[in-house]
Amino acid sequence: MSASLPSNFLLGFATASYQIEGAVDEDGRGKSIWDTYCHLEPTRTKGANGDVACDHYHRFEEDLDLLQRYGAQAYRFSISWSRVIPKGGRDDPLNEAGISFYNRLIDGLIARGITPWVTLYHWDLPQELHDRYGGWLDVQESQADFERYARVCYERFGDRVRKWITFNEPWIQSIFSSEGDSSTEPWIAGHAQIMSHARAVAAYNRDFKPRQGGQIGISLNGDFFEPWDSEDPLDAEAAERRMQFHIGWFANPIFLKQDYPACMRQQLESRLPKFTEADFALFQEAESDFYGMNYYTSQYARHRTGAPSKDDYLGSVEELQWNKQGRSAGEASGLHWLLSCPEMFRKHLTRVYKLYGKPIYITENGCPCPGEDNMMREESVKDDYRCRYFADHLDAIGRSTREDGAVVKGYFAWSLMDNLEWSDGYGPRFGVTFTDYETLERTPKNSALLLKNMVKVRCQSV
Ligand code: NOJ
Repeated sequence: MSASLPSNFLLGFATASYQIEGAVDEDGRGKSIWDTYCHLEPTRTKGANGDVACDHYHRFEEDLDLLQRYGAQAYRFSISWSRVIPKGGRDDPLNEAGISFYNRLIDGLIARGITPWVTLYHWDLPQELHDRYGGWLDVQESQADFERYARVCYERFGDRVRKWITFNEPWIQSIFSSEGDSSTEPWIAGHAQIMSHARAVAAYNRDFKPRQGGQIGISLNGDFFEPWDSEDPLDAEAAERRMQFHIGWFANPIFLKQDYPACMRQQLESRLPKFTEADFALFQEAESDFYGMNYYTSQYARHRTGAPSKDDYLGSVEELQWNKQGRSAGEASGLHWLLSCPEMFRKHLTRVYKLYGKPIYITENGCPCPGEDNMMREESVKDDYRCRYFADHLDAIGRSTREDGAVVKGYFAWSLMDNLEWSDGYGPRFGVTFTDYETLERTPKNSALLLKNMVKVRCQSV
């Protein structure tokens, strides 16, 4: 029996600018750090780049038609900062052609009755800001530039956009922008994003929300962790610590308006930046309206001893896909790091709601099917595994809301279409639409057409 979902549960699909748009040199767009990253050393991304991607920039009308066909009530996309302000900075000129693209996209959504959900930052920092001052490594400069960029978006799009997400997965941005070395850089980059979020939310709450009446939040990622040895208290602590290092790092200041989690202070000491009194005062003005959760998988955490290592951003734990008894955390998908673990998803939702108390929107959830990398279109569209993954995760939401008291208001499938999976290139296919990268033809997979019904059936069974 499938578990029922709250009534008015929102269904949407999600994408991000660099992963789908292409047209990187068109209409005045400035370069982003991802253009550089892909081109400087193509082996990092398996030779792939976002130059063309899904060519969404030219084909967005067709993509909006797909959304309508799939019964989407909402569409989450991100704005490319360097399309709107090519050099990114607070005194740099705007690019009207880039603004016009997003205006057409937003108008196209509204004409189809689909609510736009806009992510301001999905990892594609203007390259110029990286060159000028090191991007997120300059806490003061980056927050001033981000606030101005956010204000431009509210001013130019906020008459029609009522749902804003400041950052997508700042954890990933912080860790990977420092090439996985956790000595000092991730903590500075994380601090800069937290402060930038606060500045952008405070600006919205003060100067735009009273007039525009929208809502604003952030999308955090984070797996759920269970102890590797359920009888070892050290592993129980390790699992909790691992989640604090991943989620509490951002959620404590943003949602609780508190300092970083105590376990982080203890382990990282002076490497972790300090919040000032003025920062805490700003947090009071920067109330977020919802918690965006990107959820894919879960793991086991095992206590690790010894000197701090390069990856102590994991909280001094070992992450494992099997527990002490050899039980797997979930069923394998088409990507090595992604197991389907709906039971742990339910626990995760319940924990996040209890700790941070904000309505949750699942701003990403999805997977590639086993073997899908190498499938031709005819095979890929028969995506039974993905259908089951969606159904199981919707059931977990149903149970956490009905039985555990969590408040979850909507669900965005990742992704509307197969796209550039960052460093993994075009191999992994997360889409509910098959993208043929030669012809750029789109073909709906079965999951795209079934998802609407899955949600409808579960909403009706209340
Ligand atoms: C989260 C990221 O936000 C998205 O860009 C990425 O493609 C998915 N995870 C899948 O890995």
